[in-house]
Amino acid sequence: MSNKKKILVIQPIHKAGIDLLEKHPKFDFEVIENLDASNINSKISECDALSIRTAKLPGALIDEAKNLQIISRHGVGYDNIDTEASKRKNITLTITANSNAVAVAEHVMFMLLNISKRKEMYDSSVKSGRFDERNKLPKTIELWNKSILIAGFGRIGQCLIKRCKGFEMNVFVYDPYISNEIIENLGGKKVDNLAETIKSMDAISLHIPLNNETENLINYDLLKTMKKNCIIINAARGGIINEEDLNKALNENLIFGAGLDVFTVEPPSKDNPLLNNPKVMLSPHTAAFTEECMTRMGKETIQNIIDFFDEKLDKSKIIKL
Ligand SMILES: NC(=O)c1ccc[n+]([C@@H]2O[C@H](COP(=O)([O-])OP(=O)(O)OC[C@H]3O[C@@H](n4cnc5c(N)ncnc54)[C@H](O)[C@@H]3O)[C@@H](O)[C@H]2O)c1
Repeated sequence: MSNKKKILVIQPIHKAGIDLLEKHPKFDFEVIENLDASNINSKISECDALSIRTAKLPGALIDEAKNLQIISRHGVGYDNIDTEASKRKNITLTITANSNAVAVAEHVMFMLLNISKRKEMYDSSVKSGRFDERNKLPKTIELWNKSILIAGFGRIGQCLIKRCKGFEMNVFVYDPYISNEIIENLGGKKVDNLAETIKSMDAISLHIPLNNETENLINYDLLKTMKKNCIIINAARGGIINEEDLNKALNENLIFGAGLDVFTVEPPSKDNPLLNNPKVMLSPHTAAFTEECMTRMGKETIQNIIDFFDEKLDKSKIIKL
């Protein structure tokens, strides 16, 4: 019998990660594309490690895994993993902490600029032969000297502030767990009261995890206190903004626009009204899907498994369960 470690890769990853597996003398691996629970079930029972992207890993599946020692999330959010079951079975949960902050921060700037410059409207005016309407189109907005609130100042928030400062924005930071010193060193101003701060912001970008505390954090009661020119971006997790409330606020012209990379239900249902709202810019949870970032994540998710078995996994990448 082979004494090689069995590695399961749930959902395809970049070839750079597969290359690491192929080169490893002590690993056998299999990539799973069919995500039916019965298919995963039949493979998970023998594996020693798994890498997983966005597929759900409920407790019932984790309980089937007799030899599983490490779950390596391809990404940084881990709300698709049953952490209770992982803890109960003493399984290490790790993330690709070093890979995706830049890609997500760039995506936020891309959304902020597209919305403030009314990309769809201006682009289609030229393409549909209405160039002469340029003086009649509603005006665009500058980012210069505007106030942005970054909620959540971890890896992505700290990457985003540098881009916002490049545009000479005034950056306010809401993150009760990050020191004033770290925030000020990067040119931000720490705020303690989210509801009060939101009232004077021109832009808000969310970079916090989804949990009981943050679900529906941005709801109609808060939206109606925002400035009419405010743009809100969510490239964190669906469910932090209440989608029904957001749609209502946009239709009532309470805010200028919204950029969403993530949804309460993914994919969003066809009758989700936000899909047809012209004030919303959407992307299909692809903020981290740059070629460069996918390469980094593919490598890091496998390197984390290698480092774990070599007993040199960076502790900061291990989630405390
Ligand atoms: N759209 C995408 O493709 C994509 C890619 C990567 C990460 N994400 C998501 O982005 C978010 C941030 O990722 P990260 O890597 O920066 O995480 P991180 O853990 O480095 O930072 C999160 C920060 O949020 C703070 N925080 C936690 N609860 C808070 C609260 N209630 N109020 C204010 N701050 C709070 C923490 O102190 C921490 O500093 C996560 O939700 C992650 O799942 C999305």
